[in-house]
Amino acid sequence: MKNKPPIVICPSVLAADFAHLGDEMKRAENAGADCLHVDIMDGHFVPNLSMGPKVVAAIRRSTKLPLHVHLMVYNPFDYVERFVEAGADEISFHFEATEDVEETLLFIHRCNVRAGLAVNPETPVSLLSRYLPFVNSVIIMSVNPGFGGQSFITESVERIQEVSHYASLAERPKEAGPLSIVVDGGITNETALVCARAGANVLVSGTYLFSSPNMSAAISGMRESARAVFGKDLP
Ligand code: DX5
Ligand code: ZN
Repeated sequence: MKNKPPIVICPSVLAADFAHLGDEMKRAENAGADCLHVDIMDGHFVPNLSMGPKVVAAIRRSTKLPLHVHLMVYNPFDYVERFVEAGADEISFHFEATEDVEETLLFIHRCNVRAGLAVNPETPVSLLSRYLPFVNSVIIMSVNPGFGGQSFITESVERIQEVSHYASLAERPKEAGPLSIVVDGGITNETALVCARAGANVLVSGTYLFSSPNMSAAISGMRESARAVFGKDLP
């Protein structure tokens, strides 16, 4: 794989103790997290509600880590500016949530933050290939979006391999840098390993990391094992 991106460990804020959000963000930062993944749910696109821009702004004040905002909302275009103002460094939205995928991606770029496209487990990943020149990252959902603590859907591994293949064929502008392939949902040390082997370099993990008795050991363990296998063919 030319221009190989680094392994990025991204704890999902949804699994943090919301009564002590600032401390929890510091805990993730001190444990060696590379960024924080922030799930935004609207109760329509997914059957759950989570947080809004005000909470993201509070997270922004409590940590220096990059904030990756994962919008699980209909009409994502309408919310981009508010999350940029709140301090997002990357904004991803769902392919299934809008008919204006390209327009929304270009708008996120115009706001000077990184742009990502997320895809539900049932959506063919081939539909994303035409957008790969315009995105910084692709989030492959390895659970049905809406809740933390679900089990990893094993078919996601093949989907990661497929996206890695499309990424290797995509004609991306040099200044865009390598495409981040993100996996989100049910990521533990074991599932991280198979996902990294299949080509995922960004590992989003909520329940496993935040409930670990030693988050620092959990993050470094995940990083080291993923580094060793990243992009290597499955046996
Ligand atoms: C699910 C969210 C995930 C979730 C991951 O809708 O997008 O980011 O927080 O949590 P775990 O790691 O607990 O599956
Ligand atoms: Zn997420």
